[in-house]
Amino acid sequence: MKTYRIGVIGLGQRIAHVLGAMAEVGWRLELAAYVDPAPVGAPILAAAGIAMGEAFESPQALLAAGPYDLVMLGAPNHLHFEHLNLALGAGFPVFAEKPIVRTQSESLVLAHRLAAGGTPPLYIGLVMRSMPIVREVIARIDSGALGEVVSIDATEHLPPEHGGYLARNWRRRAEWGGSYLLDKVCHDFDIFGRIAKARPAKVASFGGRRVFTAERVGTAPRTYDNGEAAYALRDAGWMGANDSFQSDMDVTDHQTAMIEYENGVRLGFHANSHVALTERRWYVAGTEGTLIADLVRNRLMVRKALDRRKPERIDYGDRTEDAHNGADQAMARDLLASLRDGAPFPVTPFDSLEAGLTVMAIDEAMGSGEVLDCRPMWACYDSAMKV
Ligand SMILES: NC(=O)c1ccc[n+]([C@@H]2O[C@H](COP(=O)([O-])OP(=O)(O)OC[C@H]3O[C@@H](n4cnc5c(N)ncnc54)[C@H](O)[C@@H]3O)[C@@H](O)[C@H]2O)c1
Repeated sequence: MKTYRIGVIGLGQRIAHVLGAMAEVGWRLELAAYVDPAPVGAPILAAAGIAMGEAFESPQALLAAGPYDLVMLGAPNHLHFEHLNLALGAGFPVFAEKPIVRTQSESLVLAHRLAAGGTPPLYIGLVMRSMPIVREVIARIDSGALGEVVSIDATEHLPPEHGGYLARNWRRRAEWGGSYLLDKVCHDFDIFGRIAKARPAKVASFGGRRVFTAERVGTAPRTYDNGEAAYALRDAGWMGANDSFQSDMDVTDHQTAMIEYENGVRLGFHANSHVALTERRWYVAGTEGTLIADLVRNRLMVRKALDRRKPERIDYGDRTEDAHNGADQAMARDLLASLRDGAPFPVTPFDSLEAGLTVMAIDEAMGSGEVLDCRPMWACYDSAMKV
């Protein structure tokens, strides 16, 4: 196998983990160059035995020092649009972290550019698409095993330490992260659109901040029952704040959403970033069967509606501390198969744009407190793609 020459813009925890997973599944790679004012991913790379390569001052300087077999983008979300445009212009294949971009206007401009063609391959890190359990969910839906999908109930509930990290990290500010849901669950809304096989027609959402607030300083416990300090275990990184309860956070720490898709599929979603019983669960009810995907325990349960036998259970094992449960390794294999053999990557940039726009519509509905009609947004998106 050839050695892949890689350039990274935004060498944080995420890209370092993805590079580690790539090496783990057999990529031969050289991290030739990076741009990052203070690479948070450095210790992760060191632990994976990957050398950092040459540091460049700017994306333009890094791209000019090509060629690269892959340019990887992993800076905070507000920089994705700028970095994507530069990297696409340079002509090397690009792997970009999700969410693909942070705003509706960026989505439309990027959709136009991608639809016009002539850009290099672009792979988006919607890593759940590569997970065996998610592939199986999609295969079951497509095979008609559940009949027609009628309604979906889904959750993503994070443990306190993860929520506390989000409240200190750059994700706490809409100007950098977009929103809690955009950064955290654009993965899930990508899959829900794939399951529903339609775009959202109407959305509503309610959410806010009730956990990580200054009002709770002094009353919220700060230690675990074993005496360990809470909300402080992870380095908050770029633009990090010191205290989860007294940061300048302006995104939600809990949020609910409802969607009616264009074909009548209905979905309810509940996310909370500070729970004692963690969960990431999709409950899909069809006319002829039901499925529960438990993404925390990496378990799938399926049963026909009129089946009196026990449900079919598939335990995928492979559970890891990061809750990614082997997804990074699976995505690293998909990425190699695409670059080397031209195999289709499991998610397209357009899927990624639609997932992002879906979450942006949810956040807009939360802001207005009204049910949002998504048709004008999709009309703008479709017309942006006309070239
Ligand atoms: N696919 C997934 O499951 C997944 C998981 C985690 C994060 N992510 C995504 O990965 C991206 C990075 O997240 P992270 O957790 O690694 O964050 P991080 O804070 O660990 O890393 C961000 C890095 O970007 C660097 N940076 C800041 N400004 C920069 C600039 N102008 N140019 C270059 N680098 C700059 C920071 O110094 C830091 O090293 C985000 O878009 C996030 O949504 C995806």
